[in-house]
Formats: sequence, structure tokens, C-alpha cells
Amino acid sequence: MKQTILCLALCLSFPLMAQREATVAIHPEQGKQVIPKEIYGQFAEHLGSCIYGGLWVGEDSPIPNTKGYRNDVLEALRKLKVPVLRWPGGCFADEYHWMDGIGPQENRPRLVNNNWGGTVEDNSFGTHEFLNLCELLGCEPYVCGNVGSGSVEELAKWVEYMTAEQGGPMAKLRKENGREKPWKVKYIGVGNESWGCGGNMRPEYYADLYRRYSTYCRNYDGNQLFKIASGASDYDYNWTEVLMRNVGGRMDGLSLHYYTVNNWEDKGSATEFTDEDYYETIGKCREIEDVLRRHIAIMDKYDPQKQIGLMVDEWGTWWDEEPGTISGHLFQQNTLRDALVAALTLDIFHRYTDRVRMTNIAQIANVLQAMVLTDGDRMLLTPTYHVFEMYNVHQGATFLPLELTCERRIVRRDRIVPMVSATASRDKEGVIHISLSNIDLNEAQVVTISLDNLPVRSVNGRILTSARIGDHNTFDRPDLVKPEDFKGAKLTSGGLRVELPAKSVVTLTVR
Ligand code: AHR
Repeated sequence: MKQTILCLALCLSFPLMAQREATVAIHPEQGKQVIPKEIYGQFAEHLGSCIYGGLWVGEDSPIPNTKGYRNDVLEALRKLKVPVLRWPGGCFADEYHWMDGIGPQENRPRLVNNNWGGTVEDNSFGTHEFLNLCELLGCEPYVCGNVGSGSVEELAKWVEYMTAEQGGPMAKLRKENGREKPWKVKYIGVGNESWGCGGNMRPEYYADLYRRYSTYCRNYDGNQLFKIASGASDYDYNWTEVLMRNVGGRMDGLSLHYYTVNNWEDKGSATEFTDEDYYETIGKCREIEDVLRRHIAIMDKYDPQKQIGLMVDEWGTWWDEEPGTISGHLFQQNTLRDALVAALTLDIFHRYTDRVRMTNIAQIANVLQAMVLTDGDRMLLTPTYHVFEMYNVHQGATFLPLELTCERRIVRRDRIVPMVSATASRDKEGVIHISLSNIDLNEAQVVTISLDNLPVRSVNGRILTSARIGDHNTFDRPDLVKPEDFKGAKLTSGGLRVELPAKSVVTLTVR
């Protein structure tokens, strides 16, 4: 995909300039690739208060709910236009036995969640509750099967239970449990992180298991499965090589996990960090582009027609758990820094959609880089939520190639970081949306945008920024970081001139 970043200046020290300049040349007539809406996918795991308390409170809860799902969260998620939701894990998936989560709630076993803090798992949220949630949100379900500790038969029966119309025993059982019609389930994951929590396997062994388990994931009654193999963790190119060689076209998608973490032994606070820490994080976040390129190059070798999708089904920031929260629940705050990580990562995904067909940020509520945080009956939208909402105009739109010139800096670990990020798309009505981020913590950027002489009548936009990069929303102050109208874009004879404030994300609508 064509987006070129040219270097204007490379400096180790930060020059004293009040404002900097960048150019973006967009080619509206050269768009070919549609940005799949699934690039904006989400992930919900039985982990901490993602499901219980975050999405699901049960019908008897005093918290306002619709059939057990929190109303405030449902309303917020609908505005995001969530296209696909991955469940039940993560690591949890490889210890999950789906039959524990069907039938009368009072008969479901209470178990221990061994992966995440030893919390009691009462199985009140199971297959019906998940698939009905997807229907309420209007999104595709992505069900991750248990290969680590489950049997081939168990996974085969789960697929039958969810998707077979009639005839077999699983369809009969589903009907007895109150669901007459099968659900449509497109995406099925065959294990998760099989190199780690999903069974500590070698890629050769997992490749054989994938072949075996996936054989019995049948297409029932017009339901067409898209089968996703458990893929590599960030820099493990050998895993991708072995899977492509030994599995190849038997999979429709191969996953990849990439977390923005500078140091796994000391991840750092979500809210207390230095400017240097911030730039280092941006450098690590942008490194996903190189990681994607390398996995894609391996996939291209075995699959030059690009039939197999690369599914980045876990990504996002991972900080120390918020002090005072339950250990193992991965509850973290979410600042303007996280918002910039989200914007930059989505910009990168847009450039590789000829291979990257789906991504799922981790996770949707109360865990890692969440969209919403809840506390009892209170809920707040995170800065990352706002980026996903501002960017949802790009879902299903045509990606527009562009060239960007801007200042670049060398940050910790010798990573080179462009100070501006940009992406553009044209929707079905012909409206162009341009998203721009200014990474610089102190200086504005003046961005000159050309559109190949396309006549432009109007421009308006919204901006996400705040006084400090560590600013975040709290239950007492839930609207500290939120989008505002943006007045800094003006029409010019050749296109647009945009004054992009320091540490900001802007989405423009151009007609
Ligand atoms: O998202 C949290 C965990 O991170 C997932 O359960 C696992 O797949 C990954 O290691």
C-alpha cells in the first residue's frame, strides 16, 4: 500500500521552534483498497471485569440493563459501530468448556478462572449471552475455540450447537435451551497463543493440531466459517513461516498479537510517565509496521494471491495494573497517550489491508486499552474510545494513498518517529475523511494538504486533545478528555491548511 513518509529533518535534540511544518499529498482518484470494517474489531475476555460488571450485570441487577447487558455500555458501543467481537479469550479460551455456559443459569458450574486472578467464574455469561450480545450490537461474533485443554469433539459440537439448523443432537440441545434458530457465526479461532498459555506448543505440533481440529469445524446450513489459526507473538517470524508452510490454505486467517509494551518486566504506570517514556511508547507502537511487513513478506512467499488474512486479533497498550485494583484483572487507566497509540496504529493498519483483514484491540471494557471503564453503576468513555468513534468514518471506506513529509525524531532505543501521522479515505457518498495526529508534545504543526486539484467546498472536523499527555477521564471527571469541534482547518487554492495543536488527533470531513 502506498503511503510514503519523507524526512524533513532528523534531530536528536528538540529545536526551539514555535511551530513546525508538514505536507500531506492525498490522491483521491487512486484509491483501490477498501478498509474492512473488521479493522475496528474488539475483544472481550473472561478476565477481570471485562464481561462481569463491564458488559454483563445480569437481569436482576439494579444497574439499568437490557436482558442483563448494561444499557450505558450498550449505548456507548453502538456509537462505535463495533464490527466484530472476539470471545471468550485470550488465555481463558484454552481452558473454557462451552457446555459449562449453557442451560439454566442456576445449574451452571462455579469454577476458578486460573488464568486471571483465581476469580470465581460462575458461567452466567456463556454462548447464548455472547451471541445475543453480538446481535444487539449488530456485530459479527468471533468465537475462539479451546485447543489447549479441549477435545476435537468438544469444538466440533460447539460449532454444531451454534450454527446447525436442525437434525443433530446439538441443534436439539440449543432449541431446548431456548434458541430455535441457529446464529450465524463466521469467525472461528482454532486456539489462542498456542505457543504460550494455549498449550506451550511448538509450531510444527500446533500446525498438525490445527489441521485436525479445523477439519471437524463444519459448515452447517449455509453458515460459512472463516477459520483462524493461532498465530505468532510480535517478532516470532518462525511461527508464521511454519504455519504457512505446514497449514497454508487450510486456514483462512492467521493471527498475530502485538502489544505496545516497552519492558515486560516493568511496564510502567498508565498515568505517570515522562516525556521520554511517551516518545519511547510511540516508537514501540510504530514498530508494529515493521513487524507487519515481515510477517506479510513470509505470507506472500507462500500465498502470493493474498488469500489468507493476517488477523491482528490482540493489540494495544499494556501498563501496570491500576494501584488498588485486583491483581490479575489487568485494569488500567487510559490517557491521551493511549489515544495517540490507537490513532497511529489504526493509521498503520489502513496501509496493509490487502493482507490485514481484521484487528481486535484488547479489550473492550475494563481490561488493558479499554473503550469503557466501569465502577458499579458508573461508566466512562476513555480517550481510546473517542479515537475509535472519530475514526469509525473510515470503516468500509476506500483507502486513499498519500505522501507525508514531516519532521522525524530519534527516540529511545534509536527508533525514528515521524512527528505527524495521517490517513485518508473516501466513503460511499464520496465524502473524504482525513485523520491527522501530531505526536509532538509541545509544538503545533502546520500541515499543508493537497488533493490533486479535487474541488473542495467545505471542511469541518473534530479534535481530541488535552492540556497534559497524561490526562485521562475519571468517574468524578468523565469528560476531561473528549472530542471538540475543530476550527483549525481552512480551504486554500490547492487544498487545505491545518494547524494541528501539539499532542492531538483530528478527523476532518472534506466535501
Ligand atoms: O489480552 C490479555 C491476554 O494477552 C490474552 O488473554 C492473551 O491471549 C494475551 O497474552
